[in-house]
Amino acid sequence: MTRFDTLIKNGRIITAADSYDADIGIKDGRIVALGQGLEGADEVIDAQGLWVMPGGIDAHCHLDQPLGDGAVMADDFLTGTRSAACGGTTTVIPFAAQQKGQSLRAAVEDYHRRSEGKALVDYAFHMIVTDPTETVLKEELPALIQEGYSSFKIYLTYDDLKLNDREVLEVLAMARREGGMVMVHAENADCIAYLTELLESQGKTAPYFHSEAHSAIAEREATHRAISLAELIDVPILIVHVSGPEAIEQIRWAQGRGLRVYGETCPQYLMLTAEDLDQEGFEGAKCVCSPPPRDPKAQEAVWQALENGVFQVFSSDHAPFRYDDPQGKKLHGEDAAFHHVPNGIPGLETRLAILFSEGVVKQRIDATRFVALTATNPAKIYGLYPRKGTIAIGSDADLTLWDSEAKMTVRNEALHHAVDYTPYEGLELTGRPMLTLCRGRVVSRGGEPMVDAGHGRFLKCDKPQPARPRGSAKGF
Ligand code: URP
Ligand code: ZN
Ligand code: ZN
Repeated sequence: MTRFDTLIKNGRIITAADSYDADIGIKDGRIVALGQGLEGADEVIDAQGLWVMPGGIDAHCHLDQPLGDGAVMADDFLTGTRSAACGGTTTVIPFAAQQKGQSLRAAVEDYHRRSEGKALVDYAFHMIVTDPTETVLKEELPALIQEGYSSFKIYLTYDDLKLNDREVLEVLAMARREGGMVMVHAENADCIAYLTELLESQGKTAPYFHSEAHSAIAEREATHRAISLAELIDVPILIVHVSGPEAIEQIRWAQGRGLRVYGETCPQYLMLTAEDLDQEGFEGAKCVCSPPPRDPKAQEAVWQALENGVFQVFSSDHAPFRYDDPQGKKLHGEDAAFHHVPNGIPGLETRLAILFSEGVVKQRIDATRFVALTATNPAKIYGLYPRKGTIAIGSDADLTLWDSEAKMTVRNEALHHAVDYTPYEGLELTGRPMLTLCRGRVVSRGGEPMVDAGHGRFLKCDKPQPARPRGSAKGF
């Protein structure tokens, strides 16, 4: 009879499909047995009263990303993955970003140097394509997709990142030929530039006005355009960090027509509004991110899209900048106009607990949908399934044991990122990840790290073969 390295006994297993009571036998970092009354292990973990879920996959976070404008991200692979582990996440997918004029392969190699030996949990790379030259499209990307970097993000805004429509079409055509997954940051650059200039000419430069410059209409237009370009090429795309009903409507419309258009949203669009940018002094800069959080009606629309299957993925978009720091939010000083404030907010460690508390405990989504959004669907969409994202024989033993009744109050001093604030300070939550295992090894216990840098391994991603979104004929 197999002797297990670890046995997790008496827990309630929850996957994207089922929930049932069973023990889990782990050997060499993988799940080798699921059953009742399993015996014989070096270590036994009693999960009585706990929910055993797949470890979270944070499929959109930014760690140690070179930026080129003097701003520096607060989290590298060590602090970022430590924070992830303590929040119940066992795989992160940050971005190897190409600078304009740089080879994409050089960006990937640089990102390997930045991550080597530092991670506590497993990690894969998306790429960011900012300069789709012929070499990038015909040589680098096809080879990189084959080698396990099968997804990449493109931007329709930000001067140093954005692609024009012709470039987007070329990138999408390459993705269709080679089988890559394209993530789109959908905001209309010219609308934002026009509104920014107008607001500035009226002296409206405080952080709050970021939310007016990044209008929901600009997000809707770019979302519709991305969908149309993808339809023209006949290739799947995923619209990232969707903030409200305008963009949701476009995605739902596309899904209803049978298009493979996927959607992602993030905690900030459930928990924050534009009012959070309207604070004393420069404090609103803490919540400057793009697209910006909107209003309570938008929050409600985002909840509905999580419930009804328009969204497949729930990520943090952790983009960590320290507040009180000349390389962070105060890069251009405390009086800087909103468009000079580095965009992004932290959220790796709080992502799961927020959706669990606000979604599962408050009965907006059930626990299986929580698992689908936070682990199974991202694993499928980005080519990591079934190794990651589920509890099944042969899958990596990436597991998070939840106490569904434990109370916690979010305090930045208790988080493990290197950012000097959390936008969720004081938020009271129900449900806590008590123990997290990555490939069978306990990486956090009671919200504290239990493993050293270097446990996390790089993951090659297969070419994604996701089901059609739920709005289409069949799928998630
Ligand atoms: O404001 C944000 N979202 N910053 C991170 C970069 C991005 O566009 O996702
Ligand atoms: Zn983005
Ligand atoms: Zn992002």
